[in-house]
Amino acid sequence: MARELLWWEKGVIYQVYPRSFQDSDGDGVGDLRGITDRLDYLLWLSVDILWLSPVFPSPMVDGGYDVRDYTDIDPRFGTLADFDALVTKAHRLGLKVLLDFVPNHTSEQHPWFCEARASRTNPRRHWYLWGDPAPGGGPPNNWISHFGGPAWTFDPQTGQYYGHSYLKEQPDLNWRNPEVQEAMHEVLRFWLQRGADGFRLDAIWNLIKDGQFRDNPPNPEYKSGEWPYKALIPRYSCDRPEIHPILHRMRQVVEAYGEKILVGEIYLPPERLVTYYGSAEKPELHLPHNFELLFTPWRAETVAATVERLAGLVPPGRWPAWVLGNHDRPRLASRVAPDQARVAAMLLLTLRGTPTIYNGDEIGMENVPIPQEQSQDPWEKNTPGLGLGRDRVRTPMQWNAARHAGFTTTIPWLPLAGDYRERNVAAQMRAGDSLLNLYRALIQLRRCEPALHKGAYETVAVTKSLYAFRRRHGAEEILLILNFGPDPFDFALDKGRILLSSHLDRGQESFCGQARLRGNEGVVIRPEEYGETKVQCHSEMTRAAVSDSRHRCGRCRIRRITALGG
Ligand code: NOJ
Repeated sequence: MARELLWWEKGVIYQVYPRSFQDSDGDGVGDLRGITDRLDYLLWLSVDILWLSPVFPSPMVDGGYDVRDYTDIDPRFGTLADFDALVTKAHRLGLKVLLDFVPNHTSEQHPWFCEARASRTNPRRHWYLWGDPAPGGGPPNNWISHFGGPAWTFDPQTGQYYGHSYLKEQPDLNWRNPEVQEAMHEVLRFWLQRGADGFRLDAIWNLIKDGQFRDNPPNPEYKSGEWPYKALIPRYSCDRPEIHPILHRMRQVVEAYGEKILVGEIYLPPERLVTYYGSAEKPELHLPHNFELLFTPWRAETVAATVERLAGLVPPGRWPAWVLGNHDRPRLASRVAPDQARVAAMLLLTLRGTPTIYNGDEIGMENVPIPQEQSQDPWEKNTPGLGLGRDRVRTPMQWNAARHAGFTTTIPWLPLAGDYRERNVAAQMRAGDSLLNLYRALIQLRRCEPALHKGAYETVAVTKSLYAFRRRHGAEEILLILNFGPDPFDFALDKGRILLSSHLDRGQESFCGQARLRGNEGVVIRPEEYGETKVQCHSEMTRAAVSDSRHRCGRCRIRRITALGG
């Protein structure tokens, strides 16, 4: 890429789940002042962009993703003045702030919906989706809500069903209605004028549904016991072609305020995901969040295949966005196994594209078992036993070993993880080789090395447990070698310098010829004296054993990747 990167291409996004980040007023729930107090931590960690999950007035049936008022702050989180203070301090520290915009649905308590359901003739009626009962009775069609059960709820007062992609308490807005579009653009303008640097668009691929409400076809691959939503192929309830002009228009609205951005939540296969970039003439999202790595089995071959696939699909001139964890999915350290958390961090922060870190992943927080009686998440309540509950990934941030982990002075809204006395920010700041210090070192290295923040991506080698790729910008090159397994590997390189090991114990180590990668280790290498050193041959390696490598690249300087023999 010849041009200079923009802030959202070069930066690292840090997602804060406000309820669980820092409580400042002793009610057990995190809030905006708490976040403001912790901005120095973000600065220390060296991230660039703060994304706040919703902080708007809400009955909190779905953790704030059920918005009652789009242009205010929920008293649990503070006031508009607190928001202004947060943005002012963030900007002073050089941090950008993204808000979570929830355009697909409102709360059922939003005044718009109260009006819409008051009568069939109310001027706001068609701000939402209404359907007559099917001829034999029942919902207008077979659509299923993401959270279980039909995507339609009967409104006895007016005799029609309203549509909801999620909970019945979250009625879907009718984005075909220009009045809805304009009202929501006004919401964007409201926050842009208050200093927001952009938005993460919630559930955005659901925004427009089929105009005729056609039935979704059954999914022949569905197995009973799976997430009920997967029983149908959601052909008519999401990812409709009419979404694209709407997103282009939204982009125009935010760009009227300068270099502001739209990040999109899109759970679609990669070839569909990339359509949300829009075209060169009609651009849409700046960063469609790519969630593929959340679902890819954590093996070198599968992860490499996912990365390559995406790399091949992102349109020229557009920028990838990588996610390894968020407030909806299992904790990264639990999913990849704690031993691999460092390798995962190295991958996330060295790929080509903007990385998003979910708060707590940087200290390796794991899924926290939540007793049924303390469960808060409606998804868990509607689909018990399927392991879909999200409370376990939303527990309070573990700041220190004090009572309540420094998060609050009282009982927190969700229980703390049992390990907070050992696993916490303060302890990991002190420990030079901690996961937290690795995240920080990786972010700083990424910022300093043009090859890492803007270089091209190329796969170098993939084996059962090893994934090597290079990032290259002009003459500068960085090589990444990640060991996804517990066994050590030897590799041969003409000459190189290890800039960083995921174990944080071999910085600036130079080597010539052969070097070893320990189990579960990743290294960032700067190859040196390319082409001048004698080529290391497999036969010259003393402890070489049969390799399981598919050696993929003739030009690369890893001459051979070899599993160590006993
Ligand atoms: C996606 C959000 O990330 C999730 O937390 C929420 O429940 C749904 N959208 C509905 O808004």
